[in-house]
Amino acid sequence: MVDRSLVAITVIVPTFNEGPNVAELVRRLDEALTGMPGACVLFVDDSRDDTPSIIEGVAAAQAEHGGIPVRLIHREVALGGLSGAVVEGLRAVETEWAVVMDGDLQHPPELVPVLAGKGIDQGLDVVVASRYIGGGDAGGLDGWWRKVVSTSSAVLARSMFPLRLRNVTDPMTGFFAVRPGALNLDLLRPRGFKILLEVLARGPKPLNVGEEPFVFGERFAGDSKATFTQGALYLKQLASLRFGRMSRFAIIGGMGAVLNVAIVWLLEMLGMDYRPALVIAAAVTILTNFLLQERFVFRDLIDQGRFGFWSRLGRSVAFNGTEAVLRSIAVIWVVEAAHWLPVVAQAVMIVVAFVLRFVFHSQVVYRPRRTQPALGSAADDALGATAADKQVQ
Ligand code: GDD
Ligand code: MN
Repeated sequence: MVDRSLVAITVIVPTFNEGPNVAELVRRLDEALTGMPGACVLFVDDSRDDTPSIIEGVAAAQAEHGGIPVRLIHREVALGGLSGAVVEGLRAVETEWAVVMDGDLQHPPELVPVLAGKGIDQGLDVVVASRYIGGGDAGGLDGWWRKVVSTSSAVLARSMFPLRLRNVTDPMTGFFAVRPGALNLDLLRPRGFKILLEVLARGPKPLNVGEEPFVFGERFAGDSKATFTQGALYLKQLASLRFGRMSRFAIIGGMGAVLNVAIVWLLEMLGMDYRPALVIAAAVTILTNFLLQERFVFRDLIDQGRFGFWSRLGRSVAFNGTEAVLRSIAVIWVVEAAHWLPVVAQAVMIVVAFVLRFVFHSQVVYRPRRTQPALGSAADDALGATAADKQVQ
């Protein structure tokens, strides 16, 4: 274990109208960080109310009784929102480690020294506090809808960055320890809420990442600032980070559809009945799609992966077969029961199926092995590990 008294940490807390939470947060941080003289708290505040003066009051009280020092950066222009505030904080950090956390006590202050300690012990660049590994819990997300959105955006992000996020079950968390020295802050384009994803995905090289489980608690006071606009910003962020892999996947899928029609046409020209022609065309396109995708979409993941060639082929074919059947049933159902126009139904289903197919291939067929232990990860089991996997373990 690391000698706690040697660890210097800056706790970065972005705040927007969080006045009623400040004193309690500092009190609990003070307790959690006793015996660590190098530690301090840095509020990066964009509030439009009296939060800054509350922070200044708490800072003065801390100085008076010799508690953990409290600093404040107040921004008149909230450039980049929450993420912009975090980057501004990271620039101002003078310690080797920083821990980013929310100001509403949904993130337990007691975990701050654990996150940084793990990073130092194991020589990591980032330690993510995850709601989705053993012992973690997203309980504090209000409403099933936010849970669904949170889980599916995490899966989508992991599909788009399978290597960079190979050890990360919760790329959306706002709670993490980071060594600012490992980052190039000038490359980041912070906006919206998802600063961690930006840090992990945008840098010039993959970072060394570890995880710790945590329970996302209830807000101490006040209301969440997350909005629908944040969701839209998130999709824009994903798009700007990378569409490369996904668009190659889409292009190959499109070419497959064209090939399929061409084969049916050709075989019919040669006098074959259309039924066997359909079967042959489907078989040929499934196979060529798979080979093209191995070569042009997931090539870099093949030797990092869990399965051999035949096993990947089997999984891919099984998915495509099942998906085709389910999609036809779904189209018939929405047309008959929900009275959608058949064309609309088919178009919607194709888009949905495309995203699911991409996620399945990236997260199951080509899923990279972890390089950090998964701590009995629930998310990992649900997504990747199959029965066969488990027998081997
Ligand atoms: N400086 C600054 N500027 N801080 C902000 C801003 C802003 O524009 N918007 C929000 N914050 C602060 C809040 O004051 C709070 O301390 C923290 O950012 C998180 O905001 P919440 O409003 O509490 O967000 P949440 O609880 O809905 O979302 C949290 O959980 C998400 C995971 O589901 C955050 O941690 C997100 O980053 C995280 O993705
Ligand atoms: Mn919150």
